[in-house]
Amino acid sequence: MRPKVFVSRKMRDAGLNLVLEFCDAEVWDEEMPPSRDVLLERVRGVDGFLSMLTDRVDAELLDAAGPQLKVVSNHAVGFDNVVVADATARGIPVGNTPGILTDATADIAFALLLAAARRIVESEKYIREGKWKTWHPSMLLGMDLAGRTLGLVGFGRIGRAVAKRAVGFDLRIIFYDPTAEPEFGAVKMNSLEELLHEADFVSVHTPLNESTRHMVNADFLSKMKPNAVLVNTSRGPVVDQVALYEALKAKKIFAAGLDVTDPEPLPLVSPLLTLDNCVIVPHIGSASERTRDAMARLAAENLIAGLKGERLPHCINPEVYENRR
Ligand code: DGY
Repeated sequence: MRPKVFVSRKMRDAGLNLVLEFCDAEVWDEEMPPSRDVLLERVRGVDGFLSMLTDRVDAELLDAAGPQLKVVSNHAVGFDNVVVADATARGIPVGNTPGILTDATADIAFALLLAAARRIVESEKYIREGKWKTWHPSMLLGMDLAGRTLGLVGFGRIGRAVAKRAVGFDLRIIFYDPTAEPEFGAVKMNSLEELLHEADFVSVHTPLNESTRHMVNADFLSKMKPNAVLVNTSRGPVVDQVALYEALKAKKIFAAGLDVTDPEPLPLVSPLLTLDNCVIVPHIGSASERTRDAMARLAAENLIAGLKGERLPHCINPEVYENRR
């Protein structure tokens, strides 16, 4: 019998076709994700669940699925939507999609850095609002990159890919990540304070967990240089948005570029949307056709491996295999 699976959003054909070949799949094909109640009902009795970063995977969901559940495959590299311990306690391997979205996300981090530093969005708005009357020596002045210092908080795959790009822009690169070694000429800092003290651009590349939630708070922002730019492509809750709004409004830092917010979507009433020195895009770090094809393919491969009882190509809780021996 073909395994039964639920795919909580229509993903790219590159992966979806693999799932459909191997499984009896129910695919949620609406723009908005299934509500919690619907999700709990749809996973009942499935052998595999292909989840999105908008689905919370926890004990309640795993138990609603039932004891036959063999695998959860998360269509994202980040897995803060998964309570990993709950899956591990039930012996369920959870897959994610690392590596393939590194370049796309680093590109967006760099795009945001440039957009915030050179006031690109504000300048575009300036034209559309009919304010462009002439060329002026002091019009819309931003920050140069060359010769300045880029501070990377987190020097994993994406942080390093941003560093690689920064080399071509003649930036001096520093990073804070106790577990990483220098690469691309980046200099390792001993503390976050030291990085914030030296960096003109601060780009955040940490996972979201209890130690990074609101890591970028009033204290963090007060340690940044007065003309510094903050970029966040990790997860929205890493930044305390109230503190960020106050720092940007009071021009304690020059600007910010955000690919992720808290919550998502960002409500239209968010004060951040009133600021010209805050560039915000809707979590598009991995949103290129090639990258999303690769993510869909890897999510399908993880799912199918789990259904076959094989080791997932990318498993975030490999300890489930230890317990099986
Ligand atoms: C991920 O995969 O975690 C990304 O945030 C999706 O763009």
